[in-house]
Amino acid sequence: MRLNGLSFHSKLGLSGFLMTIMLGLLSAATLIGLLYSSSNSGFNIPEIDKVKAKYSESLLVGAMKSSMYQHVTVDEDIGVVEKWVKDGAPDNDYFNDEVMYIIEADCQKCHSRTSTMTGAIPSMPLNNYDDLLTYTEKGYSWVHMAKSAHIHLLGIAVVMVLVTGIFSLSSFPSMPKTVLICTAWSMLWLDISAWWMAKFSSVFAYVIAGSGALEITALVLMCLLSLYDLWWKKDKKLPE
Ligand code: HEC
Repeated sequence: MRLNGLSFHSKLGLSGFLMTIMLGLLSAATLIGLLYSSSNSGFNIPEIDKVKAKYSESLLVGAMKSSMYQHVTVDEDIGVVEKWVKDGAPDNDYFNDEVMYIIEADCQKCHSRTSTMTGAIPSMPLNNYDDLLTYTEKGYSWVHMAKSAHIHLLGIAVVMVLVTGIFSLSSFPSMPKTVLICTAWSMLWLDISAWWMAKFSSVFAYVIAGSGALEITALVLMCLLSLYDLWWKKDKKLPE
């Protein structure tokens, strides 16, 4: 079976699917750009420092450098909290005198069980040692990662088996087909393994960004080439 030999209505159905997948990928890329940049709108290139902060640092320090940065009074405060987390987040004088002092001054007006301020988040209190300890694990928590990983793997696998399946029926030569299909699958595995590896070394932030970009590119290319093959590519005529 070849794509360009399909009936008009099969071509129509497959084209709708391929275009929807491309819109989905565009939304995913938009979301990634918004999560890893300082902007709240539009299409953004992710900043590697933000990727590092999310995947390799504790939620507490990562947030102080990114989403909560506007509430930090002086930059040195981030270093103080960072040092405490690096030292294993002990319940000692340094914590009580230095860390808690900053949290009380900068954060508790919102992060407190009793806060009634607009924009406050009483469900995420930072009132005492135990509250803070919850957010000192490096990178995303294991629960968050396992949740994200299984949703990504199972969801993307379904999309990918359909896109690679359609693309495999195109009339392109074997080599580009093999390359694109292998790239898409291997980059998915690499991307998601790197989320975990980034807990141990922030170098893996580059792997996350690189493999994610390649994976999206491979998928978009397969969709575009399949569409081209469905409607425009003519099979080579035999010489008369
Ligand atoms: C004006 C209120 C306000 C202040 C001040 C504030 N936060 Fe937040 N914070 C929020 C809200 C609301 C959320 C949840 C939604 C979001 O991420 O914007 C949040 C989320 C968080 C998160 C979850 C991770 C994330 O990125 O969403 C962390 C960690 C955090 N804050 C830490 C802090 C620290 C540390 C400070 C002090 C330097 C601080 N916040 C100051 C309102 C505030």
